Amino acid sequence: MPDIDTIVAQMTLQEKAALCTGATAWTTTPIERLGVPELFVADGPHGVRRVPDTNSMAIGALPATCFPTASAMACSWDRALLLQIGQALAEEAIALGVDVLLGPGVNIKRTPVCGRNFEYFSEDPYLAGELATSLIVGIQSRGVGTSLKHYAANNQEYQRMTISAEVDQRTLRELYLPAFETAVKKAQPWTVMCAYNRVNGVYASEHRELLTDILKEEWGFEGFVVSDWTAVHDRVTALRAGLDLEMPGPRPRRVQAVVDAVQAGELDGGALDEAVRRILRIIFKAAETPKGGVFDASGHHNLARQVAAESMVLLKNDGILPLRNVSRIAVIGRAAVEAHYQGGGSSHINPTQVDAPFDELRKRAGSAQISHSEGYPIDASSRPDLIAEAVVAAQAADVALLYIALPTFKESEGYDRADLDLTGQQVALIQAATAVQPRTVVILNTGSAVAMNDWIDGAAAVLEAWMMGQAGGGAIADLLFGVANPSGKLAETFPLRLADTPAYLNYPGEAGQVRYGEGIFVGYRYYDAKEQPVLFPFGHGLSYTTFAYSAPRVSSPTFRDVDGVLVEVDVTNIGAVAGQEVVQVYVHDCAAGVQRPPKELKGFAKVALQPGETQTVAIPLDSRAFAFFDTGYGGWIAEAGEFDILVGASSADIRGAVRVTLQATAPLPSLLKRMSTLRQWLDDPTGRAVIGPVYELIKARALETFGAGEDAAHAEGLGAMHFLLGMPLPDLLEFVEDGLPAAPGAVVDGLLQQVHRR
Ligand code: BGC
Repeated sequence: MPDIDTIVAQMTLQEKAALCTGATAWTTTPIERLGVPELFVADGPHGVRRVPDTNSMAIGALPATCFPTASAMACSWDRALLLQIGQALAEEAIALGVDVLLGPGVNIKRTPVCGRNFEYFSEDPYLAGELATSLIVGIQSRGVGTSLKHYAANNQEYQRMTISAEVDQRTLRELYLPAFETAVKKAQPWTVMCAYNRVNGVYASEHRELLTDILKEEWGFEGFVVSDWTAVHDRVTALRAGLDLEMPGPRPRRVQAVVDAVQAGELDGGALDEAVRRILRIIFKAAETPKGGVFDASGHHNLARQVAAESMVLLKNDGILPLRNVSRIAVIGRAAVEAHYQGGGSSHINPTQVDAPFDELRKRAGSAQISHSEGYPIDASSRPDLIAEAVVAAQAADVALLYIALPTFKESEGYDRADLDLTGQQVALIQAATAVQPRTVVILNTGSAVAMNDWIDGAAAVLEAWMMGQAGGGAIADLLFGVANPSGKLAETFPLRLADTPAYLNYPGEAGQVRYGEGIFVGYRYYDAKEQPVLFPFGHGLSYTTFAYSAPRVSSPTFRDVDGVLVEVDVTNIGAVAGQEVVQVYVHDCAAGVQRPPKELKGFAKVALQPGETQTVAIPLDSRAFAFFDTGYGGWIAEAGEFDILVGASSADIRGAVRVTLQATAPLPSLLKRMSTLRQWLDDPTGRAVIGPVYELIKARALETFGAGEDAAHAEGLGAMHFLLGMPLPDLLEFVEDGLPAAPGAVVDGLLQQVHRR
């Protein structure tokens, strides 16, 4: 890599400004005289979308492997698999001449109706952060960059380019930022892409606190920040806030605006140089990876099939699956012949090949007779004739397989879903088929949770196959016939009704703002806290075998925050076939100084077990696993005290718990201030230590005022004292002024000095 400072020193102001704005839709501005090449970026969360004409943002791209989308691959809960996908994506990027892939997206699924949920991993920040880290490490290990997106609080498509996510600091830190934080700290993505929306009134592209204070300074992000495509409104403000590269280009007026601002002294030349340095470092890093060659299309297709099989989630099974001894199969649904394998929008891949589920099923079904009926049309129209035809086929068969895909007009980038439902025709079709054929399996291709109340009772089994990638058709056949054993677990809750969901009353917002009123209670955090029944809980997924868990063990029941604790559990496959289990570790805070979710995912591991085999799963928990973000301190606090560590097969299937005690090594600095209440003084260890004599005075005075004798207990106990505890100390001291050595304000100041001296 050439010396970056030497190059910067040789660059003109014009060249610097131009480097910070794209040259085309997908490339940066090269500077030939200084040997600075262009950087080529392409969409890439689950496949490389390399558009041949760099001036076009159009969909037509060069062929590449379409892997299952993020909402699917997240259900694998498999870090190693994500790493492998990343390596394959990088090989394709190299062959297609791409330097940086624009993904992964780690936005939290705040509401199941977000049209882009299929591109995101989870409702849980820990799971999203861990999986994104593995994908990024996989891609970057081969010398190709990533773009972690969309930073931040881009949780709906409705008014996505203007809406302001009104989100409080604790919620931002605990829900919406940690997946970014984890990926930045653990994997250093070469770039981070800012979101379109505003966060608390400020465009994400101009958000200094997000882009500079938190991302670059607090988390130590070393790469550059790129705008989402057309997310920049005021180029100079954005640059000042920490937005290094504006895309797409060309935007000559933006370049000129930067030049003018520096010349007018409105933009610090140092800030521009810093952006230039960040971009140059990545350009030269990318240049170290020679591009070209071919990628292993068939190998990657096979990998896509394996990923699909590990991502699909068997939601319900009354025992019909895996299919055995079937001689007549009625395959119903358009999606059986026209695979629904990806979502609409910028992530749309031009696949190298697509396996039709029907063809793949035929290959696995041996001599069984298989019919196909369309079942539902491509559009929203009602077609009773198609239902009638499907019913005849279902009746005549041993088993009906319904392939149901949520159409793109209901779910895509760019708009949100209006409801959680399949189309009316699809629901009527399932109802009619299950009425005549109890042995009916419903196979769903959706990018996100759907409601099933109207039909699930009639279905013998339900397989969520997601937007399953180009090889998903084969994976479905493998799972249905037991060639592969389902091991996917939900990375998002399937609610019973839209009205049950956390953001229901605070979505989609009004007057340009959407208030995140549910706070930290998103996904299972909300359903658990509300004791709200759901259709399928977070972490749920069935297998063809059974796993037994031992009681969990910990390295030490009492541990120091700096040491953390190791959780171990033995998992045994007590069934007849090989399988994989996802062991999930949640933490419950027994008593907290703030409101906390009943439990939060803090660790997981996937194990493959032969029948009869046992493996010990060991999951380390550091102090962050016990912490919450304290807005008073402006940091993460792991409070001393008791916690329950819950080990389970899903968030609703906890197999064992162990209580531990966390010891804090460093006392927290006191947050007491002049208007703190008596209760806050007594709750604060240092405050309690210094307030003693004043507290005695208050108590004595309270007894005098509110009664002696029989009433004394009342005065000191539940009644009056509770009232006094809620009063700010200076106001309270007005009552006891007589006995005080100085005026109330001066007494409080004196106490505060003692507190902060300690
Ligand atoms: C999307 C990004 C994408 C970019 C380039 C935008 O509309 O929000 O995710 O990377 O376009 O296609």
